[in-house]
Amino acid sequence: MAARSLLRTRTKLFLATTAAGTGAGAAMILTSDDPASALKLTTTVPIRLFRDSVTAATIAFDYKYSLWGLLEGSAEWTQAKHEAHIRGARRLQELCFRNGGIYIKLGQHISQLEYLVPEEYVQIMRESMLNKCPVSSYNQVCQVIKKELGASPDEIFEEFDPVPVASASLAQVHVARTRDGQRVAVKVQHTHMTDTAAADTATVGLIVNTLHRFFPAFDYRWLIDEIHESLPKELDFMVEAKNSVKCMDNFRRLSPHIARFVYAPLVYWNLSTSKLLTMEYIDGVQVNDLKSIQELGIHPRDVAKLMSQTFAEMMFKHGFVHCDPHAANVLVRQLPSGNGSIFGRKKPQLVLLDHGLYKDLDDTIRINYAALWKGLVFSDAKAIKENSVKLGAGEDLYALFAGILTMRPWDRVIDPAVDHLVVNRSDRSELQMYASQYFPQITELLRRLPRVILLMLKTNDCLRAVSNALIQESSLESFLIVGRVSSEAVIESKLWQKRSILSRLDIWLERLLLETRLFGMHIALWLLLLRRALTL
Ligand SMILES: Nc1ncnc2c1ncn2[C@@H]1O[C@H](COP(=O)(O)OP(=O)(O)O)[C@@H](O)[C@H]1O
Ligand SMILES: [Mg+2]
Repeated sequence: MAARSLLRTRTKLFLATTAAGTGAGAAMILTSDDPASALKLTTTVPIRLFRDSVTAATIAFDYKYSLWGLLEGSAEWTQAKHEAHIRGARRLQELCFRNGGIYIKLGQHISQLEYLVPEEYVQIMRESMLNKCPVSSYNQVCQVIKKELGASPDEIFEEFDPVPVASASLAQVHVARTRDGQRVAVKVQHTHMTDTAAADTATVGLIVNTLHRFFPAFDYRWLIDEIHESLPKELDFMVEAKNSVKCMDNFRRLSPHIARFVYAPLVYWNLSTSKLLTMEYIDGVQVNDLKSIQELGIHPRDVAKLMSQTFAEMMFKHGFVHCDPHAANVLVRQLPSGNGSIFGRKKPQLVLLDHGLYKDLDDTIRINYAALWKGLVFSDAKAIKENSVKLGAGEDLYALFAGILTMRPWDRVIDPAVDHLVVNRSDRSELQMYASQYFPQITELLRRLPRVILLMLKTNDCLRAVSNALIQESSLESFLIVGRVSSEAVIESKLWQKRSILSRLDIWLERLLLETRLFGMHIALWLLLLRRALTL
């Protein structure tokens, strides 16, 4: 009886996902205006769709079958679920490899969603996907350049290295020299893999939606919505070029005090199109390459501080945020024309690359988010609750939201100790347990929060990983920077709203209080470092 019911579920799932996907695929084929890609769509999309449907149905059936009759929450149930997660992740990984193209991007996305999808998926995807990047042959690169710029690389550039310096899921980068002798980096899209992107996202989206109808707890529609929105932008390198210009402009206008420490390569507009981006070549080292940074005479702690400051300014003041700051996308070099400090330490400059994925925070969300972080840094329970609720976390899940943002349990979040947000290595396993224990609540929270906030969570994860690589121990200084920039953003917004003399005085007092508080926290930090140094 049970077996028959399971079989029926499986057949229903399979038919539904296939039907939904076929509809999407057919729609894409009918609306494609390029004959070559229409042909490709008619051949590859149905095959991928078939694979998607089989995999989705198999994974879903596996969960249903493995957990059948087990008491939810029991040790047996937990173990069975863990094993089903592992099998599911392996099947999904296999699917991504076989389909290729944007599926690799999807797999990489999943690998970066620590604590937001089951740990087993993150681990398995991380092990296999991050270094798994498709490479276009030189012939394919020539075809793209010819199609985009009307001539072969040899005709356009003085020199063009046929071997790419780097390759990622959507593009690869070649070093070249222009006719007037400038060294450039040319980012060439893997068009043979990305031309089915729209159809692929549509089919994956329908499968996720269909699965959600059968299993309401399985709700990754936000992830699909996100990819649906961001992928076309990431595939248009003109958007990327414009983002880099806007980002630099924001630093000059809104953060002039650090503008010269942050840089984006200049774009060669006459040699760039939506599928080809030619930019100034930057001689720098990767932001997590500790040894090379030290060899440049730069202190890793200064880089970590600059990284925190740069991203805090983008989140809390500009409301226009580079959402993919993983180590390969940020270079470090000595500040051009910068003088060393008194100890001969060279000042760093951050060079931001890969400007394809940016998010706009509107003023309301930006200020609520800033006020929330201000509350987190200063252990202000009332502000944390108020702003989490304003962002949509709800009266019941605000503590969990604070926990996800800081990776700390609630009692530590509101602990007035200066290092209350610092995560030690031993905390990590506790956190993972936390994540699996509260999985349904986390899923619900993700459903409630605005999608831009989910991207901020992902950005924070990338920043945390870079910071951990640079300074192994405490990241307390980063929290003080976050505390300062978020507080300044909140105060600036009040200044905009209230212009009477009395309220300005009030704001002035608030600023004074902030400086005093931060000063006190800095003293506490020095004492902490001193105590640590003495006990070593
Ligand atoms: N302007 C540049 N100067 C030097 N190296 C670059 C430049 N742009 C990209 N690269 C190298 O190429 C890699 C991939 O570039 P990126 O823009 O991140 O492409 P993708 O979107 O494919 O990740 C970078 O990690 C970096 O090593
Ligand atoms: Mg990149």
